[in-house]
Amino acid sequence: MCGIVAYVGKQEALPVIIKGLKRLEYRGYDSAGVALLNEAGLNVYKKKGKVSELENSLIDNPDLHSHIGIGHTRWATHGEPNDVNAHPHYSSSENFAMIHNGIIENYDVLKTDLINKGYTFHSETDSEVFINFIEDIYQNNNCSLEEAVRLALHKIVGAYAIVLMNKDEPDTLIAARKGSPLVIGVGEGEYFLASDATPIVEYTNQVVYLDDYEIAVIRDAKLQIKTIENVETHPYINQLEMELEAIEKGGFEHFMLKEISEQPRSIADCMRGRLDAKGGRLVLGGLRDYMNKFQNADRIIITACGTSWHAGLVAEYLFEEFARVPVEVEYASEFRYRNPVINSKDFVIAISQSGETADTLAAIELAKEKGATIFGVCNVVGSSIARATHAGSYTHAGPEIGVASTKAFTAQISVLSMMALMLGYQRGTLPESTYMQLLSELESIPAKVEKALKLNNQIEKIAAQYKDASNFLYLGRGYNFPVALEGALKLKEISYIHAEGYPAAEMKHGPIALIDEEMPVVFIATQDSSYEKVVSNIQEVKARKGKIIAVVTEGDQTVKKMADHVIEIPMAHEAFVPLISVVPLQQLSYHIAVMRGCNVDQPRNLAKSVTVE
Ligand code: F6R
Repeated sequence: MCGIVAYVGKQEALPVIIKGLKRLEYRGYDSAGVALLNEAGLNVYKKKGKVSELENSLIDNPDLHSHIGIGHTRWATHGEPNDVNAHPHYSSSENFAMIHNGIIENYDVLKTDLINKGYTFHSETDSEVFINFIEDIYQNNNCSLEEAVRLALHKIVGAYAIVLMNKDEPDTLIAARKGSPLVIGVGEGEYFLASDATPIVEYTNQVVYLDDYEIAVIRDAKLQIKTIENVETHPYINQLEMELEAIEKGGFEHFMLKEISEQPRSIADCMRGRLDAKGGRLVLGGLRDYMNKFQNADRIIITACGTSWHAGLVAEYLFEEFARVPVEVEYASEFRYRNPVINSKDFVIAISQSGETADTLAAIELAKEKGATIFGVCNVVGSSIARATHAGSYTHAGPEIGVASTKAFTAQISVLSMMALMLGYQRGTLPESTYMQLLSELESIPAKVEKALKLNNQIEKIAAQYKDASNFLYLGRGYNFPVALEGALKLKEISYIHAEGYPAAEMKHGPIALIDEEMPVVFIATQDSSYEKVVSNIQEVKARKGKIIAVVTEGDQTVKKMADHVIEIPMAHEAFVPLISVVPLQQLSYHIAVMRGCNVDQPRNLAKSVTVE
């Protein structure tokens, strides 16, 4: 949510920043801006719209030569998207400029106080209040900017990742974070700061992840990190393992399509080195020290948001079936505020692609305070959630740039499937022979996903028929119920068609009233323990003339007779079917969105990483 980039070094700052902002655009894309410092002074350039609009507005500007700069791409929290509310923001004196990702909760009180002191504000943002609060401290304490930032951070309530420039310090960037991510790339005599590593990877693979309550000062090509208590810390330099190709479209029209297509590989990558069915081996390194806690937990609580929450629902079925442990799946945003009953015998699993979701982070902190063990299932290496949890397993899906989550979802389910199998085996609820057979079943999934992807052309044709529908229903049972929810979410977020997912049997308790000849109903009706029941639900829709699109197992004859369209996916063990059945639903939403002319990778109002609650 909002992307920030800053640079200081020997290169021209503007191209580095613009390129970096384009890479971060998936985090927010309603306005963008840069601040550059040179002989012409400290200048801020901002524009409503995408980074390319900012770039175009700068084409003929002769004053942009600079070796230091900060840039921002915004997802509006306070104030509508326009030029004025875009970042960077100047302080009143125009001596300082700042970019901010996050949300300041006490900005109203601070603003009133500053207005009483004579400050005026141009924007409606909390960030302009933040920079002026720093300026006020700077003026009143006769201190350095670095000290003013430190003092200000003691009074700021909320989340932030900030980078500041000072007109009088042409070689200095000051950065700090709490609750919003900030990565520092360390080059030779140059530094890159960004919300994640994607703008950095082509320049250096050495990065420092700034921690909460830390302030980084880059001055005269040296990096110093201190806590907000003014205690110096020694930056730990991590090696980035990300490849540049992973964050480029590689010939695909959209990142979403690329990421859907990558799933055979991303699922295999997730299992690589962990699962070897022939050798009867399944190891998740992250669980090693916590297996005892996991195995003896009274209850598993899964907490997440959005698509990751859907992966959590699949895991509920997996854990309960294979390991016979009670599971609760909680929306992090509800869990964090409802005083839940948690104790030290609970094993909490937090699922997050970005590893930065504010509600999930808060749910983790709450569960930690109550003594539970917290295990993270994250995609982004070094992310806040990965670091806030006691232990965890990365999903290794590679960078997911399309705002709608696809390959991260299947990678999450892959990790959770492995966890469920390990737990069932260790607890003795899965007999050895079943366990071995399930290992092979899981290992065979990438090849089956590869086969399912070949249905793309058929799905494109179905999409053409239903692209103008105003509503869709998605229905599934058992393991395919979360897939129905996920299918509906994918469609609504990228095509702006209203869609609902339901357990198929719930249809007759209300949604059936919606069904008429205009209503497309997507059934996930694969061969599993609830197949016969789903077939009855299909008949109920057919009787009311609804249009039926059914995802079925290859060779199905029964549903074929009833449905308007059948999409045949390879046979798999029902516990692992979601890894395959979700794929045609991702493709369906993708094609419908493209045909409706929607911005598939950057749907309106959304951002990839939701760092505000
Ligand atoms: C939907 C989607 C969102 C995210 C949700 C949680 O396609 O991407 O619903 O799943 O915002 O994000 P993470 O997984 O990063 O915590």
